[in-house]
Order: sequence, then structure tokens, then C-alpha cells
Amino acid sequence: MILPQKLDKIKVPPLKIQGIKTKLVPFIAESIQWDGNGTYFEPFMGSGVVGFNIAPEKAIFSDTNPHIINFYKDIQSGKITSLMVREFLEQESIKLSATPEDKNSYYYTVRERFNKHHSSLDFLFLQRSNFNGMIRFNGKGEYNVPFGRKPERFKKALITKIVNQVAWIENLMIDKNWEFIQMSFIDAFLLMKQGDFVYLDPPYIDRYDGYYDNWNPEFAILLSELAQNGPSGYAFSMWYENQYRKNSHIEKWHKGKIITTKHYYHLGGKEKNRNAMIEALIISPENLNIEKFDQVEQLSFFNDFIEN
Ligand SMILES: C[S@@+](CC[C@H](N)C(=O)[O-])C[C@H]1O[C@@H](n2cnc3c(N)ncnc32)[C@H](O)[C@@H]1O
Repeated sequence: MILPQKLDKIKVPPLKIQGIKTKLVPFIAESIQWDGNGTYFEPFMGSGVVGFNIAPEKAIFSDTNPHIINFYKDIQSGKITSLMVREFLEQESIKLSATPEDKNSYYYTVRERFNKHHSSLDFLFLQRSNFNGMIRFNGKGEYNVPFGRKPERFKKALITKIVNQVAWIENLMIDKNWEFIQMSFIDAFLLMKQGDFVYLDPPYIDRYDGYYDNWNPEFAILLSELAQNGPSGYAFSMWYENQYRKNSHIEKWHKGKIITTKHYYHLGGKEKNRNAMIEALIISPENLNIEKFDQVEQLSFFNDFIEN
């Protein structure tokens, strides 16, 4: 049995992205029941924080963003190693700190180089020194996030932290049957079989539509149909309610069992700007960890969702 798991310490992967689910991983890992005999799918892998912490034996991680996929393929093949990451960041940090914070920053030299050659090391450098961890590409597929930090961004301690994050993934993969594939969620569903499990965390509707992140209501509906009529177990992450409204899209997932947890996020540093968002996890009925929620006998849609 790979799930449920009680995870106390969540590790963060090297490529952080906006909307990373670090805080929700314990909730997700405790709420699902799955024997782990089939393949674990994560077709919207993003940072990969959920699957990497669950660490199944056999997994297919995929995403439409080719740079995320190449980064992990390069670690898997040994094309990049944690040692190389250290050397690279040490060298590049010296160059970065010798340039100003503005448009003449060395950050933009790396950005231009990345847009020509797409090296995974450059991608890591950009992703860890850009504005707010955004991943954004223009209509031509060029990375266009501005520099958002200070020239002395890559201090020794940060370099060590990133190197350790790469080393964690490097070691984790050694004895695992993991594949990283650039593909849309639709293709990932074609690979799923009975006994598999899929964790789904698509982009939010109404959020920014980036080049590799072109999400829309039609995709959202298709996803709900593929998951609910597909052969594998599923868990789907979605916001349930914020201070203004409930998420009506959740109705499309009527076959699943819904559980929720409160999540706080800050707008600026002030306490009064602390907003609660209720996050939902919708799980295929046979994959809900009933033991954790044994106080509820009959779960049904909306009326008796469980607050964690
Ligand atoms: C909300 S993020 C996933 C975050 C991830 N769970 C984490 O914690 O880091 C959504 C991801 O879906 C990817 N994506 C967008 N459209 C997609 C599609 N049609 N098929 C597959 N992946 C897609 C984006 O590139 C992005 O990495």
C-alpha cells in the first residue's frame, strides 16, 4: 500500500513554480487509498512536489511544458548532476552579482541563451532568480519572465539548498521506474489502465493563459469526463470556495467523493490580508481513505463534505 501516507516533512523540488502544492501534500497523501501496484500518473506535474514526496515505484510524470520535462529527463540520464549544478550556479552567481538589477542584468544574458539553446541548467538558473517563480512564455514560446531578485541572489546557502534539492531527486529516481513525458493530459489518459492512479492539478480557469498553459473551460470539462469515465483511480485538486464564491465547476465531478481543507494565503504582509481558501480534493469513491474519515458513513456530493 503506497497510499495513504503520513508525511510530516515535505521536501521541495528544485524547480519551484507558482501554485506549487507543497502545503497540501500531507492532506493529499493522507486522504487517498491506493495499493501502488499500477502506475502513478501526474499529467500536470508542474514542480512535481506531490508525486516526488509520495515516491511511487512506477510513475509517469507529464506536462505540456517541455522545459520541466527536459530538466527531469536530464537528471535521470545523468546529463546534469547535483555536482554540475553546484559548479554552474557558483560560476553564474559571480557573473550575476557583477551586473546591475536593471535590464543590463546578467539574468537577461542567460534568458537569451536559454531561448536559443534550452539548457536545463539555464532553466534552473532563471527559475530560481526570476520574478516570483513565474513560468511564462510568449506567443513564440520564448521565456519572458523578468528578473525579480537581487544581483547577489545566489548566496552560498541558496546554492547549497538548490544542490540538495537536485541531489534528492537524483537519488530518489535511482531505483524507480519513472518516465517523464511532454504531452497533454489527453494523451496521458490514453496510457492509463485499471489499477493505475492519477493525481490531477490542472491550471485554474480564469488565470493567466501562458503558452504551455492554455487552459479553458472546454479542457476542464473534458478532464472531468476523462477522469470519471476512465479506468484508473483519481484525485483532483480544485479550490472549493473563497471569500466571494463557491467554485461551480466542482459540480462536474459528481461521481467523486469530496473532501476539503482550509488553506491560508497572504496578500502582502498584513495580518488582515490573510485570506482563507477552501481547497477541495475530489477522489474516486474506491480510493478515498475511509479510515481517516471514518466518522462519515455515507459521503455524498456537497451535502456532507468533510472538513479536515
Ligand atoms: C497548477 S500547475 C501544477 C502544479 C503542481 N501540482 C505543483 O504542485 O507544482 C499546472 C501545470 O499544468 C501544465 N499544463 C497546462 N496545460 C496542460 C495540458 N493541456 N496538459 C498537460 N499539462 C498542462 C502547466 O504547464 C503546469 O505545469
